[in-house]
Amino acid sequence: MPYKIETRRLVLAPFEDADIDRRVALANDIEIARMVTSMPHPYTRKDAMEWVTKHDAGRAAGTDFPFAISLKGEGLVGAIGLHKKDGPEFELGYWIGKPYWGRGIASEAAKAVMQWASQKQGITEIVACYFEDNPASGRVLGKIGFSHTGTEGSCHSIGRGEKARSLNMIWQDRTDKPF
Ligand SMILES: CC(C)(COP(=O)(O)OP(=O)(O)OC[C@H]1O[C@@H](n2cnc3c(N)ncnc32)[C@H](O)[C@@H]1OP(=O)(O)O)[C@@H](O)C(=O)NCCC(=O)NCCS
Repeated sequence: MPYKIETRRLVLAPFEDADIDRRVALANDIEIARMVTSMPHPYTRKDAMEWVTKHDAGRAAGTDFPFAISLKGEGLVGAIGLHKKDGPEFELGYWIGKPYWGRGIASEAAKAVMQWASQKQGITEIVACYFEDNPASGRVLGKIGFSHTGTEGSCHSIGRGEKARSLNMIWQDRTDKPF
């Protein structure tokens, strides 16, 4: 399957119907919704179904590459994906269910997606932004080779119901890759 990535502890693959209940249980968390831009809170089964039904079209158009993150032997623990911006660059987004924080899962998943994007999709530039009150995400991005652009933004978060200050980071494929 071209959209399957395996790492030491994780399997990243398209979402399946069987993932929906765990997705809802883990994503229905205000601490996650506040740190991303587009996750409704409360997060319902209907939200999850609507989100998943868009995936095939996004992949076919080459604009969206969403992956369910599963921990081997445990099942779904989060989500990660790339979304095409207006230029050549893609934007990276991710979340991990709270019971699984602090185990290096976001870093392992994001590094694998960058490698896949570079090698399988020829993507050479990935951007990401994180809210300034979310240093853990900034740390993940820094660990896997992103650099601050020096620019800031103000992004709306559905979970917050308002805009918040965000910091922009970028990764560009180079010959001296971090992996
Ligand atoms: C941010 C998030 C994805 C991190 O997931 P994770 O699997 O726990 O991340 P990792 O374990 O790979 O790495 C987290 C790093 O942040 C560090 N960290 C955690 N809290 C921190 C804090 N308050 N300040 C600075 N660094 C922090 C950890 O120590 C770790 O770094 P280390 O490996 O050098 O010790 C997870 O907390 C999450 O899903 N949050 C809500 C959604 C979200 O923020 N999505 C990203 C939007 S940009």
